[in-house]
Amino acid sequence: MSRQLIAAGNWKMNKNYEEGIALAQAISNAVQEPEALVILTPPFTSLSSVFEVIRDKKSIKLAAQNCHVEKKGAFTGEVSIDMLISVGVEYILVGHSERRAYNQESNELLARKVDLILSKGLTPIFCCGEALDIREAGTHIDFVANQLQESLFHLSEEAFRRLVIAYEPIWAIGTGVTASPEQAQEMHQNIRRLIAKQYSVDTAEGTTILYGGSVKPANARDLFSKPDVDGGLVGGASLKPEDFVEIIRSF
Ligand code: 13P
Repeated sequence: MSRQLIAAGNWKMNKNYEEGIALAQAISNAVQEPEALVILTPPFTSLSSVFEVIRDKKSIKLAAQNCHVEKKGAFTGEVSIDMLISVGVEYILVGHSERRAYNQESNELLARKVDLILSKGLTPIFCCGEALDIREAGTHIDFVANQLQESLFHLSEEAFRRLVIAYEPIWAIGTGVTASPEQAQEMHQNIRRLIAKQYSVDTAEGTTILYGGSVKPANARDLFSKPDVDGGLVGGASLKPEDFVEIIRSF
């Protein structure tokens, strides 16, 4: 089964209003008929302006970095899913390791966010991945399995088929240390095995699994050539248009 290939850029807390428009324009101008779907994930303040830049491009979609778990109400400083939908968002990151670490987001909370996003017809990009001490203890496979178990495996098979997974080992994020293509493949293959066991081989084969953590033009091709790696979730390198465009062309 052919899976959707994706090159997603997570801008994190970078780029002001004008810079965001310029970056989106540079990417949009350079990308004509990409091999992969391109997803831009700017900060909230740039969502609607970036959407205006990409709205006529079928191959570029808009994602948000987070949404609140409640639909509306007295939650000062938060952003609801309906607000995101109203500015053109189709994908939402869930459980990025920075939000797990700095905002105490638990597997249980993330399960509720996944439910909300799917109920609104959007696509969650569910992030998972282990810290260095867990990798060194050799328990990374079990750790990620538990993240999937507690946040995703309550879903019906039909619902599960609508999400994207991003494996982002924390030790590789922003460190310049990339997981080797073999390390990424091992984890992705194992995630696919778990999905097959929980649901079916068909669903496992159809699930897009991205790798994130120091993806750069120099390593993207080797990572994306692995059979279970369906693209990347790119942080730092997605802020430089020439680097991100080269990554998009690495499929
Ligand atoms: P870097 O590409 O900067 O390591 O960040 C990866 C990431 O966290 C994407 O969500």
